[in-house]
Amino acid sequence: MAEDLFIAQGSKSDKYKQLLPQIHALVGSETDAIANLANIAAALKETFGFFWVGFYLVKTDELVLGPFQGPVACTRIQKGRGVCGTAWESKATIVVEDVEQFPGHIACSSLSKSEIVVPLIKDEIVIGVLDVDSESLNSFDSIDAEYLEELCRWLVSHL
Ligand code: SME
Repeated sequence: MAEDLFIAQGSKSDKYKQLLPQIHALVGSETDAIANLANIAAALKETFGFFWVGFYLVKTDELVLGPFQGPVACTRIQKGRGVCGTAWESKATIVVEDVEQFPGHIACSSLSKSEIVVPLIKDEIVIGVLDVDSESLNSFDSIDAEYLEELCRWLVSHL
């Protein structure tokens, strides 16, 4: 497809509904994981204007920073640490309305106020996480969780 993104107006759900098929087309038959993760991070950032969007990938026994869009971030996160390490350990999506209220939150940037982390699960094993940060409180809810989980399920089947 052409490397242009159509950004829908309207509700958050409308934006996700328009975005997901475009991501499927953007990935197409490309099999390179770095290329696909990079474009997905960019597409999410471009559509929603999130502060930071990126992937951490499980390597040996740590999460290691992967493709992302946004300010520089911490490179390694241990299992069970921060929001990302907790999502890895619990194999569950975590929505954080206010990062200051999340015990052990890792502040890569003091500008980040709320966050959602969705684990990438392949054959019941977490192989990475998608992390999205916002400069506003309460940016994420069950709608983001639903669509980002759908995206991550689809993504894992293409990795
Ligand atoms: N806040 C995350 C760390 C990653 S950065 O936000 C990009 C956490 O607590 O795991």
